[in-house]
Amino acid sequence: MEKIIDENKQGESLILEQKEGNKRKLFIESYGCQMNFSDSEIVASILADQGFNTTQNLEDADLVLVNTCSIRDKAEQTVRKRLEKYNAVKQQHNPHMKVGVLGCMAERLKSKFLEEEKIVDLVVGPDAYKDLPNLLAEVDEGREAINVILSKEETYGDVSPVRLNTNGVTAFVSITRGCDNMCTFCVVPFTRGRERSRDPQSIIEEVNDLWNRGYKEITLLGQNVDSYLWYGGGLKKDFDKASDLQKATAVNFAQLLAMCAEAQPKMRFRFSTSNPQDFTMDVIKTMAEHKNICNYIHLPVQSGSNRILKAMNRLHTREEYIELIDNIKGLIPDCAISQDMIAGFPTETEEDHQDTLSLMEYVKYDFGFMFAYSERPGTLAERKLEDDIPFDVKKRRLNEIIALQQKHSLLRTKAHVGKIEEVLIEKASKRSDAHWSGRNTQNTVVVFPKGNYKVGDFVNVKITDCTSATLIGEAVGYSENN
Ligand code: SAH
Ligand code: F3S
Repeated sequence: MEKIIDENKQGESLILEQKEGNKRKLFIESYGCQMNFSDSEIVASILADQGFNTTQNLEDADLVLVNTCSIRDKAEQTVRKRLEKYNAVKQQHNPHMKVGVLGCMAERLKSKFLEEEKIVDLVVGPDAYKDLPNLLAEVDEGREAINVILSKEETYGDVSPVRLNTNGVTAFVSITRGCDNMCTFCVVPFTRGRERSRDPQSIIEEVNDLWNRGYKEITLLGQNVDSYLWYGGGLKKDFDKASDLQKATAVNFAQLLAMCAEAQPKMRFRFSTSNPQDFTMDVIKTMAEHKNICNYIHLPVQSGSNRILKAMNRLHTREEYIELIDNIKGLIPDCAISQDMIAGFPTETEEDHQDTLSLMEYVKYDFGFMFAYSERPGTLAERKLEDDIPFDVKKRRLNEIIALQQKHSLLRTKAHVGKIEEVLIEKASKRSDAHWSGRNTQNTVVVFPKGNYKVGDFVNVKITDCTSATLIGEAVGYSENN
């Protein structure tokens, strides 16, 4: 692989990894969760071996792939609009262009996609990317092709991802696939299949390789990372059937985190996403014991009402969640915590909504990702519950949740002002080319004048000012991690 510096629309320097001698051009874009972005890097790697290099220019592409998200109706609408755009480009500039749909919408809609969207030649679900060479051979011969088979084993642990649109500093490494939780609102268990974990050895190899190539921060990815369990392969739900030896040598998430942190003590580690019901004291202790594991936990709760949590099949109560927060803050006092919330789940009353707001008041989250409930076909909530909260009520509750989060975010960022914090420089600030942008351990964005520092440096920054989303400061020197 050779590295080519490219310019994206914002004028930032992007490094695209390209393979010499490759002739065909792949345009690949991703929507939805970080896992989709990570999966696209696996797809780019598989296609690099088939003679494809990536392009940033749709009009040049021989093959266009869109990695799709089904989590809310709006996410699907966005993808449908992109397909219209590809169609227009194909008609006007590029009649030979082929179009494929990957990811959760491919899995959910299957062959319906080929019927509904004439532009689509290829439909591939999240566990079938290794079949892409065969599927493309079909497409090259003028046939439509589809593989949406979900797998019990596939983790792509043996595929070395091609880093796309990378800043050369931060990277995702996926550690689990699928989800066994069956939250009643969520389409993911249907689109990504049962939960399975990746061989820790292949994870450590990827971590070491990234360090050797200059990367400084890794986010370990899974739908539910705390449920990671390696016992030699196979589904999480079959662990009971494993042999005594397999059980005795199994690796859980806390152990995996420690292995990563110890394999590369100067690399920063983050992880996402955590489900409160699977979050253990061991993980909190492992975080506290390793200073290269960042003090930040994304800990979605969805609602502060016990009745709604139960209807969502979230397997913990409000009180247990609060206890978990107290345990985290007890061992890691400056740990940042972020939430996901859903406003207007079926049957949600004003009282339930007030419970959500009061839970937020208790935790005072650093950040949040907040959504109006969107009914998803095939989920338990869709089959059993009426989507009975009027849109304007959902919207009003959502706005109240967002406003409260903004208040708390500002409160949290203000607490950083006056401190000196370690920041890993990632890129030029979007607002000013004279400033760097990076993040502190809590995952808050920090911007400061560039000085003589460069992307990838760990710098101590004195925080002088803030907004609710960004810290502003001045560098006072390299940090000891540099
Ligand atoms: N474990 C996952 C969570 C998946 S979806 C992860 O790794 O991110 C991300 C968030 O989308 C959820 O936490 C939830 O807040 C929201 N979400 C999921 N399904 C939804 C739906 N049907 N309507 C509205 N929001 C939803
Ligand atoms: Fe979805 Fe719940 Fe899994 S939100 S991804 S079913 S933990």
